[in-house]
Amino acid sequence: MTERPTVLLLGGTGRTGQCVLDELTKRGARVRAIVRSASRLPPELRSRPGLEVIEASLLDLSDEELERHVRGCDAVVSCLGHVMSVRGVFGAPRDLVMQAAARITKAVRAVAPSRPVRLVWMTSVSVNQPERRDHRRGGFERSFMATLRFLLPPAKDNQRAADYLSSAVGVDDPSVEWVVVRPDSLIEGEVGTYSVYEELVDSLFSPGRTTMRNIGHFMGDLLTDDVKWSSWRGKFPVIVDRDSATT
Ligand SMILES: NC(=O)c1ccc[n+]([C@@H]2O[C@H](COP(=O)([O-])OP(=O)(O)OC[C@H]3O[C@@H](n4cnc5c(N)ncnc54)[C@H](OP(=O)(O)O)[C@@H]3O)[C@@H](O)[C@H]2O)c1
Repeated sequence: MTERPTVLLLGGTGRTGQCVLDELTKRGARVRAIVRSASRLPPELRSRPGLEVIEASLLDLSDEELERHVRGCDAVVSCLGHVMSVRGVFGAPRDLVMQAAARITKAVRAVAPSRPVRLVWMTSVSVNQPERRDHRRGGFERSFMATLRFLLPPAKDNQRAADYLSSAVGVDDPSVEWVVVRPDSLIEGEVGTYSVYEELVDSLFSPGRTTMRNIGHFMGDLLTDDVKWSSWRGKFPVIVDRDSATT
């Protein structure tokens, strides 16, 4: 991957998405951000060199339009999330993140890139890895999470999107490689020291913290550092601030 990748960013107007946009443009990446409303980006970010803002409702784009936006990209980063309101949580589209994962994958495959496009997919520690690889999550916590997924569409949506990448896309796709990034409770703050783990380190009932700018920093590294990408490709890294993890 080039040191100045071209990145399609989804959810760039969100709390974490803005940190990712800030980090990527500071690193000199060219960023195409699909946003519902450009006015939700602070002017300071909107005027960043290398940023192209595409004002559109992501799921309303046709396949051809999405392919046009994906063409030439080295990576796609998703910081999508359901808006935390009754309408955002229980209204349509309940499968925003899943649909985005499937449609982006389809678009990337359709443009047949000369080398795999990197998908960096933000989700949460509430999401399980396949095959019960999160040893720290016991039976009670699993049942609790299953209940949450039943009651709360965004929790189910995040899990389905992650399952889609790990099962339907897998690790041998010639067009798409992926990393599912799992932060703990999101907090504001500057880039600081953080750790990245192969599996959960905190319980849902005693959560750790993840500074959103640290997520941006880790994602920036994933997109510009081939060694880091190789070590996390096809995995579900958990990112937590260094002073917050309980291990
Ligand atoms: N809250 C936490 O502590 C926490 C912890 C770990 C992980 N997470 C996960 O991290 C992700 C991002 O969290 P966040 O707090 O940074 O998110 P956020 O601030 O709520 O931002 C969500 C983004 O998704 C976009 N979006 C929402 N609905 C959309 C739709 N129908 N079509 C297109 N775009 C849409 C929003 O666009 P608009 O600006 O146009 O609304 C915004 O850019 C979420 O998946 C969340 O579950 C959250």
